[in-house]
Amino acid sequence: MSGRQPHFYGNLTVFLLSAKANCILIFKLIGLLNLLNVTVSCPLKCSCIQETGFMQCHFLQGIPKDIPHWVQNLSVNGSNITTLQAATFRSNGTQLSNLTTLVLTNNKIRTIESLAFHELPNLITLDLSYNVLHHISNNAFVGLTHLKVLRLNQAFWGADTKLTNMRWLKNVKSLRTLEIFGNGLQSFPSGLLEIENLQFLNIGNNSIKMFDKMTVLWFKRLNIWVYLSPNPLVCDCKLSEMISWLRNTTQVLDAQNLLCFAPENLNGTRVNNLELDSFKCLNENLETASYVFFGIVLALIGLIFLMVLYLNRRGIKKWLNNFREACRDQMEGYHYRYEQDTDPRRSNAATGI
Ligand SMILES: *[C@@H]1O[C@H](CO)[C@@H](O)[C@H](O)[C@H]1NC(C)=O
Ligand SMILES: *[C@@H]1O[C@H](CO)[C@@H](O)[C@H](O)[C@H]1NC(C)=O
Ligand SMILES: *[C@@H]1O[C@H](CO)[C@@H](O)[C@H](O)[C@H]1NC(C)=O
Ligand SMILES: *[C@@H]1O[C@H](CO)[C@@H](O)[C@H](O)[C@H]1NC(C)=O
Repeated sequence: MSGRQPHFYGNLTVFLLSAKANCILIFKLIGLLNLLNVTVSCPLKCSCIQETGFMQCHFLQGIPKDIPHWVQNLSVNGSNITTLQAATFRSNGTQLSNLTTLVLTNNKIRTIESLAFHELPNLITLDLSYNVLHHISNNAFVGLTHLKVLRLNQAFWGADTKLTNMRWLKNVKSLRTLEIFGNGLQSFPSGLLEIENLQFLNIGNNSIKMFDKMTVLWFKRLNIWVYLSPNPLVCDCKLSEMISWLRNTTQVLDAQNLLCFAPENLNGTRVNNLELDSFKCLNENLETASYVFFGIVLALIGLIFLMVLYLNRRGIKKWLNNFREACRDQMEGYHYRYEQDTDPRRSNAATGI
């Protein structure tokens, strides 16, 4: 039950052998041991080491309700815990104020409700990696005033933008380290730009196509250390701010591994090796400019056409009249001939003459 016990028994045997103790002493010690067993209570399917404040559980159906108050480092893995609620970490009606590290990896956690960690006022490290988060309340992290490390690697893959913008992180002012590796993020989470004290960010193994100017300014302002790769970067002009920053910073710890994914001719090129010319937006600007130019020319032509119509309205009317007359003459002639050709009596008469 207790990880400490084997060691304790070992000491005990040595003590008993060396002391050559009698039966009464042995019984007294067994009594003491039973007493110890009661105080080092540990929830079912968990193992505890009280002297280091460590408790670890596997294959549970929920967070235990009887977590001892001495626990500093709690780890629950491989369990079926779908929701974290306001009362989840309440033990025996009170806060777990000694808990500083909480590891909840691989638990199928889907929802984190408001005030879920409220009972853990001294939490410093929280690991929620390898879960299936689809809903995180904007108040989920309220009360975590000392939280410094948050790990969310492969924790919310496939969630919608309501979650992936990470606005729910705005309450965590003390955060220093954030890991959001492997979440399929399509763009840099806008909510992160509101965090001001971050010192380390790992946002690799996502689907981010570019780090725009705002993001780069945020990196610079915070002087933050970042891991950015792998991500399928599109190396065009929108990345130029990032590229010129990359040339003059040591903040990107994996700068050597950053590769272009698109455009096709740059696929696989190291972003660091790009010539300034190769990501100028010359083509794109030209294309936009030519579309605009084409539009203006079309509009001008239309305008001129309308003006010509307007100025020549008399002439046009005359021409139309002439055209109509001509048509009428033509039609009448045709009609006449047609009638002549198809009138059987006329043709008979004609042949009879
Ligand atoms: C996991 O928990 C949910 C609800 O708490 C339950 O419906 C489901 O059957 C559980 N799954 C397993 C494998 O125990
Ligand atoms: C639970 O709380 C009660 C009173 O607050 C206390 O007497 C009892 O020892 C506590 N039990 C545990 C396991 O902490
Ligand atoms: C990257 O993330 C995907 C899920 O998005 C995961 O399947 C894959 O194992 C991750 N790769 C590494 C190297 O961790
Ligand atoms: C390079 O970075 C330093 C400080 O990090 C800054 O003072 C300098 O202006 C930067 N140079 C360019 C060209 O951005």
